[in-house]
Amino acid sequence: MRIIIVGFGNLGRGICRAFIGKADFFKKAYGLIPKVVAVADECGAAVDENGLDLPRLLKTAESHGTVAKYPGGRRGKLALDLIEEVSADLVFELTPTNIKTGEPGLTHIKRAMQSGKHVITSNKGPLVVAFKELDSMARKQGVEFRYSASVGGAVPVIGLAKKLLCGNEILEIRGVLNGTTNYILSRMSAEGVPQEMIIQEAQELGLAEKDPTLDIDGIDTACKITILANSVLGIDAKLSDVKVTGIRRVTPDATRLAQEAGQTIKLVGTARRDLLEVSPKLVPQGHPLAVSGTLNAVTFKLDLAGEISITGFGAGPKETSSSLLGDLIDVHRTLGG
Ligand code: HSE
Repeated sequence: MRIIIVGFGNLGRGICRAFIGKADFFKKAYGLIPKVVAVADECGAAVDENGLDLPRLLKTAESHGTVAKYPGGRRGKLALDLIEEVSADLVFELTPTNIKTGEPGLTHIKRAMQSGKHVITSNKGPLVVAFKELDSMARKQGVEFRYSASVGGAVPVIGLAKKLLCGNEILEIRGVLNGTTNYILSRMSAEGVPQEMIIQEAQELGLAEKDPTLDIDGIDTACKITILANSVLGIDAKLSDVKVTGIRRVTPDATRLAQEAGQTIKLVGTARRDLLEVSPKLVPQGHPLAVSGTLNAVTFKLDLAGEISITGFGAGPKETSSSLLGDLIDVHRTLGG
């Protein structure tokens, strides 16, 4: 499969590392041979119609901060040109999230679909701004569109809901969907330190959004609730439909009192037909949502199965590549591979 990667930060590099490390496995298990023919980052692009040398590409990006220094690489804003001109089957759109306009990811995804390429993305921006439009464009263009990595990182929230639980009516989804705030709340509760002291640590762990207020104020969780409402519950929801309260007003004292009462404070996102909400909630210790540190957790309430919960790492390049590669193999299978 011929692949273009747009956005070569932690996630793009994480995928390439997985392609290198798991090449034999992909070939043996799925007959899948991923060939990365073009990569674009903020500064430029590297292209090789015969397939880029991935170890060399990674080395170039790590030592020069851009793939433009790869032999024959080009400088300039080239992502749209690559998407339109390079012969490829699939585009990974992995640029940073912009929840106001969805750009540049939104245009990248539309152009890829318009030029007949399948799309896999982790980018919440385009999904929050234009889920319905992208979903119907993919159908109209006859291309596959996957976005598992946009919610839950490595935790297969969307795949579980859309595939394995599809015989159920999903009555409610509740989740701890933001690793940064969960890390902050866990540390506050364990050590009694105020959140301002921990925010920087969360940034250093590579968890927090570029603008960490998106995490703290619950907006990142609200984006994920919006994506779940659209993709899993089939509601044409906008980010502005989600009632959001972040964790700014949660104090170390509050976390201590909760603990003494056998509870824990979590930033919980809820998606139901009659309610889209994000707010700090008391969760009993031992409940599946009472996960600590950087973990995410989701509980589905279902008409047949009752409650099903999953947990795992909600961020991180290696962990998130699990969802991106799962989507790739799923597309490969759907296409008859
Ligand atoms: N900032 C997000 C988090 C990253 O902390 O969970 C994953 O979407």
